[in-house]
Amino acid sequence: MPSLRTCVFPCAGFGTRFFPATKVIPKEMLPLVDKPILQYGIEEALGSGLDKLIIVSSKGKDTIIDHFDRTSELERSLKERGKTDLLAEVDAVSSMVDLITVRQKEALGLGHAVLMAHDAVGDHPFAVVLPDDVILADDPCLMQMRRVFEETGRPVIALMEVSQEETSRYGIIKGEEIRDRVFRVRDMVEKPKVSPPSRFAIIGRYILPPDIFPLLEKTERGAGGEIQLTDALRELARSGEFYGYVFDGKRYDAGEKLGYLKATVDYALKHPKLGADFRAYLEGLFGDGKAAGDSRPPERRKNDRRRV
Ligand code: G1P
Repeated sequence: MPSLRTCVFPCAGFGTRFFPATKVIPKEMLPLVDKPILQYGIEEALGSGLDKLIIVSSKGKDTIIDHFDRTSELERSLKERGKTDLLAEVDAVSSMVDLITVRQKEALGLGHAVLMAHDAVGDHPFAVVLPDDVILADDPCLMQMRRVFEETGRPVIALMEVSQEETSRYGIIKGEEIRDRVFRVRDMVEKPKVSPPSRFAIIGRYILPPDIFPLLEKTERGAGGEIQLTDALRELARSGEFYGYVFDGKRYDAGEKLGYLKATVDYALKHPKLGADFRAYLEGLFGDGKAAGDSRPPERRKNDRRRV
């Protein structure tokens, strides 16, 4: 069994679904409570035993690399002022990981971004994490998938059941469930406009063999005029065993506004330091209005619940 220790993070997109916030700030750097979105993906990969992490970035995304670098001046200043708690928090991020970076010079799509990592990945199996897809799970999603990969030695993609109306937003698989949560994938189609082959959508976690690279090289532009990873995966699925895993966890599309807000609320409620106060605030907001900053006396609030 070839060892799995590499993970690729495509971070080169423009973040158009989050304009204007992401006009200058990379969407991967938007904070989800108190960490940038990307850090959740990095922590998931590290927690799944992957330690060679490759960022595929583009112009204007250098803050991603800076975030995981040492910040000597800041560290010195915190030390001098005796702010040991803050120093520990900053140090934990700087020493978390040494990232490898490659650039995608043209915005030609997800498949092209993954292809840009070929040299850095080498001739080994690797994982891909799309940072926008934030997954809240006790057992990291990649770890759940890794078990299927270690058992089968074959490609594994994360799956989630979506409604019929949502199928046009995702890569959708065709296949059959062979045991609890595990699908044998036969085919897939990127963002089907009509007749989706199932309601099982591909979510942004993949474990792939290096054989995907020559397939990506041959892949022509597909949906949206971009080189789609799904189109190369389709060739891989047609040529041998290929698995899908319906992960246990909750996924958020943090790359768009509503998904980001939902993720913010759920992660804030789970935050060890902020969770209790934030819950009290929300209860006030949906309850008697007290915690929502309603300055009226309670008897006037009673029959006038806020609707938000
Ligand atoms: C990408 C993939 C798509 C997948 C989705 C999951 O699409 O191409 O197959 O279902 O991620 O988030 P994107 O959302 O980047 O357009």
